[in-house]
Formats: sequence, C-alpha cells, structure tokens
Amino acid sequence: MKKVILDVDTGIDDALAIAYAVNSKDSELVGITTSFGNTSVDEATRNTLQLLELLGREDIPVCPGAEKPLFRPPLKEKAAFIHGDDGMGNHSLPLPKAKPSEKHSVEFIIEMIHKHPNEITLVFVASLANLALAVMKDPSIVEKVERVVIMGGAATVPGNATPAAEANIYADPEAAEYVFRSGLPVTMVGLDVTMQTLLPWEQLEVWRQKKTPLGDFMAHIVEFYINAYRNMYPNIKGCALHDPLAIGAVINPGFIKTKPMHIQVDCDGIHSVGRTIADLRSIPANPPNVDVALEVDADGFLKHFLSVVV
Ligand code: BDR
Ligand code: CA
Repeated sequence: MKKVILDVDTGIDDALAIAYAVNSKDSELVGITTSFGNTSVDEATRNTLQLLELLGREDIPVCPGAEKPLFRPPLKEKAAFIHGDDGMGNHSLPLPKAKPSEKHSVEFIIEMIHKHPNEITLVFVASLANLALAVMKDPSIVEKVERVVIMGGAATVPGNATPAAEANIYADPEAAEYVFRSGLPVTMVGLDVTMQTLLPWEQLEVWRQKKTPLGDFMAHIVEFYINAYRNMYPNIKGCALHDPLAIGAVINPGFIKTKPMHIQVDCDGIHSVGRTIADLRSIPANPPNVDVALEVDADGFLKHFLSVVV
C-alpha cells in the first residue's frame, strides 16, 4: 500500500480527491498539507478538517503551509465562482472540532520523507509552493521521494486560468519551475487528461439517494462545481475530476499513459506566464524532466472513483 502525502487548496475537486484517497484501500494517506489557491490557506485547512470530520478521519494530520507564491504577489484571486465563497460550494458543515497540526507543511513533508525513505508518494493538487520550499530547505529529500504526482500544467492543450496557463502552475510559476528542475521524479497529470475525466450530472441524484451525510454533502458541493463548469464550457457533459485523477494515477498507474518530456514553466511571459512549455520537437534540446500524462482510461478511472469515493 502506497504511503501518500496529499497537498491541497480545498477546493471542491480537492475535496473529492481527499475523499477518494481516504476511502481507498490501495493507499495510506499519512497526512495532508495545505496552501493557497482556490481559497486562502486558512480556508483550505478549515475545509480539509471539516471534510475529514465528515469522513470520520480526524486522525489524519492537516498541516498548514504556504500563504502566497514564493517570489511574487498572487496572480489571481481565490476562485469563488468555481468553488464557492467558502471554497466548498457554500455548504453548511459545522466548524471542525479538530485543530490543524502545529507543524508547517514543509516541516511535515521533510520529516515524513526521512522517516520513510523511498516510500512516500507526494501528490500535489495545488500550487507547488510547499514542495519547492521543502526542497530548498532540505535538498536531500529529492533522492528519497518515491514519486511526485502533480495535478497541474497543460502540455498539448490550452490552459484554464489563462489561455496559456493551468491554474495550479499559474498560482506559483516559479515554484513549479523550481520543482521541475529539482531532479524529483515528477508525473504531471495536467489538463491534457483531466479535461477528459468528467463527472456526469446524473451522479448527483445517485449520491442523494444514498441518504447519507457524505452522499448529501458530495451532491451539494458538486452541484455548485458542475454549474460553474456549465458556465465556463457550455457543451461540457459534467465537471472535470482534475484532482481525483492525480490520486487515481497513484492507486492505478494504468489509468494514464505518460511520455517523458522536457517541461519549462514560463515565468516572465506577458501573455503566457505560468504556461508549461513542453518540448514537442522530434529532437528536444534538453533531456526529459517530467513524465507527462497524455492519455487516460477515462471510463476505467471514473468507474473506480465512483466505487470508492462515497
Ligand atoms: C486545478 O486548479 C484548481 O482550481 C483545482 O482544484 C485543480 O487543482 C485545475 O486546474
Ligand atoms: Ca486543487
């Protein structure tokens, strides 16, 4: 069973990824780290604690982390139109009973990697700020991480935060560039594949019919998220399971097909800041630094996700 640390900016699809990871028997979620993005880091931490309480897993530590990008003011506001003012579809869960860990995300990541060398898979479904900070603080972790799986980037398709940039990379371009150059073994699960894994509207009624607090909660938050997707992509047949697919790729790497590529992040572009530039030429100028997911078994993944998440 793979030991996973999940880094989130909870966020509706982050919440789905957390529930998927918690309820999966094929991974052990040893801790959750939080940062800014869809919400502030404090909101992401609170949302994560509320969800863990609903899932009955208050034992999983939640460690707050980066509050802002490493080297620049935030490029974007929190994404209230996609995730709600509270980051989880304006729900009504009570404030969490559990407190966040007193450990900072960076401290927790470094400590766990040394405690379990070559056993920890880091799954980042937010900016890469916490990971860049951890490597800056202790570069020796690079050799001891089993794998890093990120939801982020777009190698062969348009961005979503801007025409060029995917939201998690756009949230902190320098952090992403630093991670891609660090030597860490990174798998990029970006918009190339996550825009193909759609949760259909009909699922909401299936969850409601379960008549459980978790089923009701999931239907509520995903209704908000799916409506946002309808506004952004008029003909879309559901909402994108971005963050859950990163967990899916850990549970069953067979859900995706990857290609080693050289990826650079545009940190200076006037119109393209945050873009993940993949060297798609037949003879790339540099050796590959990222395994990029280009194909996905969308049906197989969706079936598995739905059988586990609620
Ligand atoms: C990513 O950006 C965030 O808004 C989502 O939670 C996801 O991690 C999609 O581009
Ligand atoms: Ca996210």
